[in-house]
Amino acid sequence: MGMIGGGKDAFIGAVHRLAFNMDGQIELVAGALSINPEVAVESGRNLFLDESRIYTDYKTMLDKEAAMPAEKRIDFVSIVTPNFVHFEPAMMALEKGFHVVIEKPITFNLEQARQLKAKVEETGLELLLCHTYTGYPMVKQAKQLLQSGALGKIRKVYVEYPQGWLSTFLEGTGQAQASWRTDPKRSGKAGSMGDIGTHAFNLAEYVTGLQVVKICADLNTIVPGRMLDDDGAVLLNFNTGASGVLMATQVAAGEENNVKIRVYCEKGGIEWKQEDANTLLVKWLDKPVEIYRAGTGYLNSLASHNCRTPAGHPEGYLEAFANLYRNFALTLNAKISREQPKEEWLDFPSTEEGVRGMAFIENVVKSGQSDHKWISFEV
Ligand SMILES: NC(=O)c1ccc[n+]([C@@H]2O[C@H](COP(=O)([O-])OP(=O)(O)OC[C@H]3O[C@@H](n4cnc5c(N)ncnc54)[C@H](O)[C@@H]3O)[C@@H](O)[C@H]2O)c1
Repeated sequence: MGMIGGGKDAFIGAVHRLAFNMDGQIELVAGALSINPEVAVESGRNLFLDESRIYTDYKTMLDKEAAMPAEKRIDFVSIVTPNFVHFEPAMMALEKGFHVVIEKPITFNLEQARQLKAKVEETGLELLLCHTYTGYPMVKQAKQLLQSGALGKIRKVYVEYPQGWLSTFLEGTGQAQASWRTDPKRSGKAGSMGDIGTHAFNLAEYVTGLQVVKICADLNTIVPGRMLDDDGAVLLNFNTGASGVLMATQVAAGEENNVKIRVYCEKGGIEWKQEDANTLLVKWLDKPVEIYRAGTGYLNSLASHNCRTPAGHPEGYLEAFANLYRNFALTLNAKISREQPKEEWLDFPSTEEGVRGMAFIENVVKSGQSDHKWISFEV
């Protein structure tokens, strides 16, 4: 693979490397690792990339790699740049025949997401969108359980993502990750709702299998001087008549990454928290609560496929990320060998989820800024 962004000046690129190195399916052989050419070169050297495949811009990387013999050139690129540098490299990579891994939110705006989806369909190439929380085994357990109907019809969905790291005007200090996330020219129309609200939205649709059809949003900018929302809540209506609440904030002082989802059905409900990721609670109306644990023998097929360690040896964020990459790599290998990928491998987020994530951002901002709060969820 080749990587775009993710040099020594970056946050998430290093997490990707830890994750895709976990299974020995993927090797990083090329990179345009930073917007700063010196950092790009130094980062490539630190990772022992061949000098000829350390690039100082992604266009050159894609051109030169595409001109190499098939057995030598990269199979896919991983795009781990800020939101405003997602669409162009992704389109270019697809046009040159490379599969794509891309960070969320998929693009800068909804129209770009639609175009990217069309390009993926036209080329027949694969795209993995990094909604990390869908990679956790206990999230997959919850998904299969809810969608089996064992708990009855879904009635309520409560999903929340509180962080506290933007409780002060951090962008004023020049901190890189805060600076672009709070800048509408680089982040997009939304702040916290785009950065972490899209994860919560994706998680809600993923585990329930339902689709949001109407929303009512309340967006706030709590920290003075900030240009985008840093806090908000959204009421949700789903296509089956179920309803829910989504909360995303980056000013919940003291919170880390407290992603949590609860879904209630006719006979009971589920509860999962990423800060206790190996546990899934199943609550029943008429019997005691059940505690499911990762790595055990009683998990369903989707969860078991995504477990790596025996019960009691905790799996976490890196393994969830690794599951996205492994499923993507297994799918690519199957396609290259002209075999049918297994259903469990194909269970990774892609362009459909990307388009819905961008629609979430646009609809939430529209509702948040309007006096007519309830609006249809336009995609
Ligand atoms: N899935 C997750 O859980 C998760 C977590 C964090 C970040 N993200 C997403 O990952 C992306 C990056 O976030 P981050 O926090 O790592 O950002 P960052 O600011 O830490 O790093 C961005 C990197 O992109 C590079 N870059 C910028 N423009 C470039 C260009 N034109 N060519 C090559 N490199 C370029 C920078 O030099 C830097 O290396 C964002 O889209 C963000 O939303 C996802």
